[in-house]
Amino acid sequence: MIETIAPAGALHGVVSVPGDKSISHRYAMLTSIAEGDSKIHNYSTGEDCHSTLSCMRALGVEHQVSEMDGREVLVVMGKGIHGLRAPAGPLDVGNSGSTIRMLSGILAAQPFTTTIAGDCSVAKRPMRRIIAPLTQMGAQITANEGQFPPLTIRGSRLRGIEYELPVASAQVKSCVLLAGLYAEGETAVSEPVTTRDHTEIALRELGADVDLQPRHVRIRGGATLQGRELAVPGDLSSAAFFLIAALISRDADLILANVGLNPTRTALLDVLRGMGGNIKLLDFHQTNGELIGTLQVHSSKLKGGVIEGPTTAAVIDEIPILAILGAVSEEGLLVKDAAELRVKETDRIEAIASNLRRMGVVVNTTQNSIQIPGRQSFRASEIDSFGDHRVAMAFSVAALMADGPCTIQQAEAASVSFPEFYTTLRKIVV
Ligand code: S3P
Repeated sequence: MIETIAPAGALHGVVSVPGDKSISHRYAMLTSIAEGDSKIHNYSTGEDCHSTLSCMRALGVEHQVSEMDGREVLVVMGKGIHGLRAPAGPLDVGNSGSTIRMLSGILAAQPFTTTIAGDCSVAKRPMRRIIAPLTQMGAQITANEGQFPPLTIRGSRLRGIEYELPVASAQVKSCVLLAGLYAEGETAVSEPVTTRDHTEIALRELGADVDLQPRHVRIRGGATLQGRELAVPGDLSSAAFFLIAALISRDADLILANVGLNPTRTALLDVLRGMGGNIKLLDFHQTNGELIGTLQVHSSKLKGGVIEGPTTAAVIDEIPILAILGAVSEEGLLVKDAAELRVKETDRIEAIASNLRRMGVVVNTTQNSIQIPGRQSFRASEIDSFGDHRVAMAFSVAALMADGPCTIQQAEAASVSFPEFYTTLRKIVV
């Protein structure tokens, strides 16, 4: 699908974004292995989270969408911690690296063998990072060339381990914790920098015994999870496209309603405010252990700057849209310590650089960094998402700032996390 995006004069209105992708995956998996029914409000409409639900269905867990007070609610009929059954064929995670990595933690503890695979992007995602700890816990896993999907996971009785994550990855941490839920004794995971803690919070909400300390989490195996009513906050990583569109456009006043503000996800707001971004928090509350709030954002003069170390890890999903900001900032943007960008849905350093160059923007890259000088402008051009949702959305925002209409090839990739993206964008363009 090709989308044509015309330059925008002003951005005004109220934006609501889909339920958080990370939290939706976790709620789908955990309520599936909880006792009884769970009602999940605002479950992500993105394709990735539907892949998780279809994997859980293939493992014997039914779900349905019903209506409550005029809104859709997802009802998951949990089977209990030992209630999954062997699927009839390989599980298909589609484009979702989160699903394959996190679900593998649960599959490693099942009394059956599962093959789990995904699309051609997932087939290139590194899996040694989960194979190593799960093997230590007692599972047997085979992979393409020892490290790529499809994975064939022969489950077993697992033993708890103490694991130090070699790379900062919430998916890997979650995988080990989910396996730890089934393991004998305790499982402890330490991380080099703080990553999103939605799994820890959700496990606790459903009744697991979790001890959460800075960069260190422990789970006691053998707990029973209890199904319940849960509400998913809006996805701050999806809101980021509108947040930055508003900051860099000449005339903007946007409200971003009901977005997740878990402190392990809000480094983006600190970075943007540090550059001079005018972002106000209008209200906030807590639901199911997660902070949710409303943001108001106005056009701002942005300095740009350097993002590195733990901050790069904390804003890793927002780098494609931050790169757009970098090009129009005063001093430009340098992102260091970003090697993980090369193994996301696509090689994002390459995808960002190639599209920026098509738009006439100067950009310099190394194996683990990207640098975009400031005060540049976007030339109307033909963009390629390379099948990556965040690249499609980031460059749609660049298109709003271009000197003429741009086309986005493979624009449908946005549906992986945000199927309503283009209609939402059109609603706020004045
Ligand atoms: C996610 C963790 C991050 C992030 C991804 C979602 C999660 O990946 O990039 O979009 O839900 O835990 P890594 O764990 O590979 O850093």
